[in-house]
Amino acid sequence: MNSGAVLYAKAKTIIPGGTQLLSKRPEMFLPEQWPSYFKEARGVEIWDLDNIKYMDMGIMGIGTCSLGYANPDVNQAVINAVERGSMCTLNSYEEVELAEKLIELHPYTEMVRFSRTGGEACSIAVRIGRAASGKSKVAICGYHGWHDWYLATNLDNSDNLKDLLLPGLNPVGLPAALKETALPFHYGNIDELEAIVSNNKDEIGVIILEVQRGREADLPFLRRVR
Ligand SMILES: Cc1ncc(COP(=O)(O)O)c(C=O)c1O
Repeated sequence: MNSGAVLYAKAKTIIPGGTQLLSKRPEMFLPEQWPSYFKEARGVEIWDLDNIKYMDMGIMGIGTCSLGYANPDVNQAVINAVERGSMCTLNSYEEVELAEKLIELHPYTEMVRFSRTGGEACSIAVRIGRAASGKSKVAICGYHGWHDWYLATNLDNSDNLKDLLLPGLNPVGLPAALKETALPFHYGNIDELEAIVSNNKDEIGVIILEVQRGREADLPFLRRVR
């Protein structure tokens, strides 16, 4: 076994699930032979714990590193921030500049709130949607993270996420009261969504979906959803 595989076997005994992110599990790629851990990453090159060099032709940090790993400009900006002190009782003035920039890039938005993960962003969005509509039920289409409001769909039927990226996520530990609050529909299937909305007229106030994943957005479908 390579050093990464040995370390991963140990990780599974002390880290639930083995990795910090489902999408980085070695089992998804090459069980028991995947390098699993990196020592260094630059551009598209990665060195594993045995100093073997790889070229990342895959997911580049699940899509986060579109400029390449250890990009010199990004690195320098981070180093500068750390040297000035990256945490303080007062706020970072840069957050205002970033909020303005994001509103400029996404002109359909008016305000910005930062979150740390995708699942957290979706939970915030659903909370706001429920507050604005005064209704509890949510129609879902895609993968939206691990939080209770989303996994609740599998309380109704363990097959509910079958075609929505990650099937069979276990809803153990969720409050039973969340049953029938997250109702799935399939991308492109407007009839399914219309049936959900008409069968839950007084209770459904939020529709959340992945606009696109790995294929072009279906604009006629998105217009009808809106
Ligand atoms: C569309 C979408 N929403 C939410 C999430 C959850 O993000 P996180 O794992 O950062 O909580 C993911 C993660 O892959 C995602 O692809």
